[in-house]
Amino acid sequence: MPKITFLNWDVTVEVEPGTTILEAAERVEDKGVKVGHSCGGVCACSTCHVYVRQGYDSVEEPSDREEDILDKAFDVRPVSRLGCQTEVAGADLVVEVSEESIKAWYDENPDARRAAEARGEDLKK
Ligand code: FES
Repeated sequence: MPKITFLNWDVTVEVEPGTTILEAAERVEDKGVKVGHSCGGVCACSTCHVYVRQGYDSVEEPSDREEDILDKAFDVRPVSRLGCQTEVAGADLVVEVSEESIKAWYDENPDARRAAEARGEDLKK
């Protein structure tokens, strides 16, 4: 089965083909992986913005709808994708989660933000 590595935390998870990057992230949230998903994964918000550092060519091209939503994201790059719309195919992926997405995750999880602030953690990770 293909693997997705989340660079920010150096966490790797094995997933079935067809699994989205967001779904993979949720499986390893207990290891610190944070991908925001304010709209619930329906391609309406851009808070799940990630950069596919390796394996970009193995995934399907973004739909027009995904590109429209990505246009509203911050710091968009040629390898930008929405985590909720990008399904792993046969190849492994290496993904960097955008700062925008990590911030959104903390916005969605205020208790985790307070706890991380109390521990003096870097909230960009
Ligand atoms: Fe909203 Fe992906 S979670 S666009």
